[in-house]
Amino acid sequence: MLKIAEVHEPNRKLVGRTVWHYDHVESTNETAKELLEEDLEEGLVLWADRQAAGRGRQGRAWASPLGGLYFSVILRPKETHAWILGLLVGMPVVKALRHFGVFAGLKYPNDAVYQDRKIAGILSEGVYRRDTYHVIIGIGVNTNVDLDRLPPDVQPTATTLKREVNLFVANDEFLDYLLNQIDDLYSRYRNTRIEFLIKDYRGQCTTIGKRVTATTSKGSITGRAYDIAPNGALIIMDDANAKHEFVEGSLKVVP
Ligand code: BTN
Repeated sequence: MLKIAEVHEPNRKLVGRTVWHYDHVESTNETAKELLEEDLEEGLVLWADRQAAGRGRQGRAWASPLGGLYFSVILRPKETHAWILGLLVGMPVVKALRHFGVFAGLKYPNDAVYQDRKIAGILSEGVYRRDTYHVIIGIGVNTNVDLDRLPPDVQPTATTLKREVNLFVANDEFLDYLLNQIDDLYSRYRNTRIEFLIKDYRGQCTTIGKRVTATTSKGSITGRAYDIAPNGALIIMDDANAKHEFVEGSLKVVP
């Protein structure tokens, strides 16, 4: 783990005022958790060129070859809304992808997908350190990666910026744009009512209206993705018109 640079962007409100750039780490989320012991500024970003043990949601691995963008943001929101923040951060990620030429959609809860192939993922984790609640938002974007550098089992359902866009986009440029968007989102998060943000999210979530199968520890249900509940859950209406709230598990769009 070698820190190769520290970048300051004092014009940002909170997120990404300082960015620590590493050559490689195990996982930027894990590095963030280790560093929480020290008194770090809120909004600090840890960015790595590679991860040896990148982690995804639900205990999955996140392949992190050179060329992709991997970073974590350390936040200290007042209320324990780690999960909702992780949901909302899908919006700036999709916005950044669109800005750089990939017309991505937002698959519930927070995957950025293009033509049903995943291009970015988010892992948000809430942790307590000395009575303070922290939220670590880890984001991985398949930017300058060839699809064949990703594990064979994810290749059929994944894509990369390099594959979809002819123009080369440098990771520092993508990160700069994305951090500005996350900074804006987080300031809205702190200053507006969560319902407004959930409403925005609902408008951007391309899963709404689609037929889905949701699998959780309790079993699986198939139906139409109907709405986003005020708590951020996906409401699925099954074929008998009964509503179910889905939060955690795997979600597939089905024909
Ligand atoms: C998912 O879709 O399953 C979430 C993927 C999250 C990957 C990012 S890469 C940076 C940060 N560090 C990790 O180990 N994971 C997140």
